[in-house]
Formats: sequence, C-alpha cells, structure tokens
Amino acid sequence: MSSKPIGLFDSGIGGTSIWKEVIKLLPNENTIYLADSKNAPYGEKSAEEILALSIKNTELLISKGCKLIIVACNTATTNAITYLRTNYAIPFIGIEPAIKPAALYSKTGAIGILATKGTLTSKLFEKTANEYTKTITTIKQDGEGLVPLIEAGKLNSDELYKLLENYLKPMLQFNIDHLVLGCTHYPYLIPQINTILGEGVKIIDSGEAVAKQTKTILEKNNLLKTSSIKSTHQFYINTKKTVLEVILNNPNSIYTVNELDF
Ligand code: DGL
Repeated sequence: MSSKPIGLFDSGIGGTSIWKEVIKLLPNENTIYLADSKNAPYGEKSAEEILALSIKNTELLISKGCKLIIVACNTATTNAITYLRTNYAIPFIGIEPAIKPAALYSKTGAIGILATKGTLTSKLFEKTANEYTKTITTIKQDGEGLVPLIEAGKLNSDELYKLLENYLKPMLQFNIDHLVLGCTHYPYLIPQINTILGEGVKIIDSGEAVAKQTKTILEKNNLLKTSSIKSTHQFYINTKKTVLEVILNNPNSIYTVNELDF
C-alpha cells in the first residue's frame, strides 16, 4: 500500500505550490497531480458544480491507485471536502485560508484575506471566519480574474499587477498587518504582493502546513512509502501542458507531464 501515490488536484496549476511543499517534506513519496485547467476558474462556479468537479477528480485519482488525496485547492476544499471524506474510504487533506494564525498574530487587529468567490461564500469558510475573527477587522477580497491570468501564463503582466493593486491597496487603509492567501494559485504572486503591500504586511499561505499534515496522516495510517525505489511524479492536465511545465520549472525533470482529457 505505502508505495502507492499521493494524489493531488486543483482547478489548474495553482496546487503545484502545495505539491512543491509536499515533495520537499516527503521526497520519497510518489505523486499524481491533476490540473483541471479546462474547468478553471472553480472560484466562479456554483457550490454544486465545484462538488461535481471535485468528485470527478477524486474518482480519477482513486482509479489510479492513490492512497491519500490532497485537495490542493481552497475552493474545492471549502465546498467539497466534507462530502469527499464521507463518501470515499481513503484519507483527504484539505487546504483552507489560514485565518487562525493571521488573527492570532495580528498586532494591528486587522487582517486581509484574498481568496476566490467560491471560497469566501462557502459554509466552511464562514464557520472558520466566525470562529477566529470575532475581535478583529477582516478585509475580504475576491480575487476575480487572477486565476485565469495565471493559467494563461501572464504572471508578470501589467494587467495582472494592476488587478492585484486594485484588490490589495485598499486593504492598507485598514492597517492590515497580515494577508492570508486563500487560493493555491496566489503564492506565485508573492513578489508582486510584497511590492504592493510593503514589508509591514506578512503574507500567510498554508502550503507548509498542508505538507506537515499530510506527513502526520500518512504516519498515523501507516501509509508512508518505505521502499527506497526512486519516487515518480506524474502530472495530468486537460489543456496544453506548456504552462504547467513552466511553473514547475524543475531542471532535473523529476516528473512527467501528460495531456489527458478528463
Ligand atoms: N487554486 C484554487 C484555490 O485554491 C482555485 C482557483 C480557481 O479555480 O478559481 O482556490
């Protein structure tokens, strides 16, 4: 069992920010990653559509023998993880905006959250936000338009920078000292975000925490890969693979990227 792969899925290339953390902490593990770019952005879809897409991705990963699935997408996690955990026998790790540490460590009493509409309007997000932000000011911003630009490989475009500036600059008026990245695509925007918000705002993303949680759950379930046979990493994308190869940017090519219609 333990040499079976860890599955990951996202609406596209964003979840690779999680994958990178996972293989850093668990370099011996095999992985399979699904980039459902054809259906991006999930953040603009209804809760029912996000659930249906999450089920489709989960069933493909299970059919490929995955021992555990990381839902490497805040939008899919906040809308589908409860269903997935109830209906499939393998363990699931989800990713949610890290509101708790931001709220806990804020000195100004104000934090910003940049996430998709699908995440911000989900019941799970509402529950977590209610729990941790009662005594602080929370500036929530829907990052509409950012994911399609990242998926189109326009990471360093003026168009993306201007959009980001429109979303983030107003937060400074509220004196935020933390910005929570509530979408796995956004860690790829950290250089631009730092330029816009400056040093006084700490950026919080959950990649490392997800990797640690994955390790804990694998250990608990006796699922860690023990054999020392070299690990393999397979990526499947249902649009053109170029953008995924660019973002993975691994000169040693420890992975294979395949185009697949799913
Ligand atoms: N990367 C995803 C997330 O973490 C989905 C973004 C989208 O497709 O809208 O929310």
